[in-house]
Amino acid sequence: DRMEDFIRGIPKTELHMHLEGSLEPELLMRLGERNKCQLRWKTAEELRNAYEFSDLQSFLDLYYEGCQVLVEEADFYELARAYLRKAHAENVVRAEVFLGPQSFTSKGVDIASVLNGTLKAIDDAEQEDGISCGLIVTAQRHRTEQDALDLLEQVRPWFSRILGIGMGGAEKGNPPSKFRHFFRACRREGIRITAHAGEEGPASYVREAVELLGVDRVDHGVSCLDDPALVREMADIKIPLTVCPISNLRLKGVPSLEAHPLKKLMDAGLHVTVNSDDPSYFRGYVSENLVECQRALGLTVEEIVSLVRNGFTAAFISPAERAAAL
Ligand code: HPA
Ligand code: ZN
Repeated sequence: DRMEDFIRGIPKTELHMHLEGSLEPELLMRLGERNKCQLRWKTAEELRNAYEFSDLQSFLDLYYEGCQVLVEEADFYELARAYLRKAHAENVVRAEVFLGPQSFTSKGVDIASVLNGTLKAIDDAEQEDGISCGLIVTAQRHRTEQDALDLLEQVRPWFSRILGIGMGGAEKGNPPSKFRHFFRACRREGIRITAHAGEEGPASYVREAVELLGVDRVDHGVSCLDDPALVREMADIKIPLTVCPISNLRLKGVPSLEAHPLKKLMDAGLHVTVNSDDPSYFRGYVSENLVECQRALGLTVEEIVSLVRNGFTAAFISPAERAAAL
């Protein structure tokens, strides 16, 4: 398939993926055994068969359960190194990856193990494969704003190695406004910020992320379409959206990829990028997301190129670094 070969071969970015969500069943089972975790599944096969979700929360329950196998610095290293190998193999040349330390620190894992293991993998991948990668630390929105502020203090020693701060987790009932002091504090430190908004939550959450938090990118953001004035504002300021079509499909945000609003977002003049979110759990890395959207929505080569180029212009890199990547 020529279109598929083209999509796999073209240099790409990945701007919305959670390292925890790249944990493949085989690695999860191996780490679970090594760390003597009591798991509900006997085999990787059995675990893979549990990857059926009805909404965001049903996914998050399994995703957090999987996080229990990540304990030692070496575990975080293996997770990130495995992901970056896969990304390099599909010609991702720039990856900006999320990791949410609270899943681990809340169970007694040392923040230094989480960050040092992950950053060492990023350094090795850059050295060995030439892939460029930055780490975005995420806060969990079902926890309190004080928890997020505590996280910011915990990661302070690594500020120079952190690309940005984001926010994920259970969206409904946890609007961006709940975290306005936290994001203001991140801004004061000169840290770039992103937030998940408009995945399951309403357009008003997207508006809060853009206007109240002042995010540099909106993660997902698809529900902005319910507010045409907001869409015009977002198109005017060219704020990037990191859309994850297969994620939206698996979490039942859309009934089919044919019904996905990706093209509506593009046609509205928004700065749209395509990403994978949780590639292991949703069975699709960034290439599969582009390939399947191309087929379902009949995207042209020009539209694919535009989505891929948008990834580079939305990346948290300088124009010089962008030129070097392309
Ligand atoms: N939404 C919110 N939080 C998440 C997601 C998501 O799609 N994936 C991992 N954490
Ligand atoms: Zn996400």
